[in-house]
Amino acid sequence: MKNNNLPIGVFDSGVGGLTVLSKLNAALPQENFIYFGDTAHVPYGNKSKETIEKYCLNIVRFLNAQKAKLIIIACNTASAIALKTIQENTDIPVLNVIDPCIEVAVNNTKTNHIGVIGTKTTISSQAYVEKIHAINKNIVVYSKECPLFVPIIEESLSNHSIANSAAKLYLKKIPKEVDTLILGCTHYPLIKKTIQNSISSKISILDSSIVVADYVKEYMVKNSLLNGGFLKGENSFYISDDVEKFENSIANIMNVFNCKVKKVDL
Ligand code: DGL
Repeated sequence: MKNNNLPIGVFDSGVGGLTVLSKLNAALPQENFIYFGDTAHVPYGNKSKETIEKYCLNIVRFLNAQKAKLIIIACNTASAIALKTIQENTDIPVLNVIDPCIEVAVNNTKTNHIGVIGTKTTISSQAYVEKIHAINKNIVVYSKECPLFVPIIEESLSNHSIANSAAKLYLKKIPKEVDTLILGCTHYPLIKKTIQNSISSKISILDSSIVVADYVKEYMVKNSLLNGGFLKGENSFYISDDVEKFENSIANIMNVFNCKVKKVDL
């Protein structure tokens, strides 16, 4: 029997998934969420498929033990290379952050040129290119890895000039035909302004966190997974390292203060 009061598990390598969680909180106020940030292993974006799969399966086991009714991989890197393995290893439905974005980007582009920025592993997986071409082969995809973005954000340097310099370096060669740029990493909304200032104002930026929240809500309605209660849901936070730093990040990113984060050793 379904128990809709059960929590939704959301995970990422670090703080990036908080951009998704805050939009999920707004879209689904009655739901309880368990967030796991794998801060002992961040960044995922320069690691091998085997390593990332191993980390993800540990997290999924943890979320399983917490009786999550749904798992959201709030990480593009894990979504790009570990989705299938994760789905094969759990009975809980698992949603990823790439599929919902692809649909919106394909509908959005007028020039049939889409840009995607992400981690090294996400970009080299070709996941975006393959999924876009599965819908429309005529779309030209410009992909660019931006490996310094995640460490800059994790080090709370989003507003430092170093973020600006990195954005200028990575984004200077976006072809002029590109009219839609997918932020293919859940960390990147945290430097969205810097990214926007480094590219043509004609390019619209697709922030996956917003798109994903709508997609999750639709999925839950369709599959009768919504929590019908009237009480406001709660967030619980777990990480694998450095509690204090993460509590500060929650305050900065989600504007939620005095959150208690628990460290777990997976
Ligand atoms: N936020 C993640 C992503 O969307 C992970 C980035 C990383 O850990 O390198 O790809």
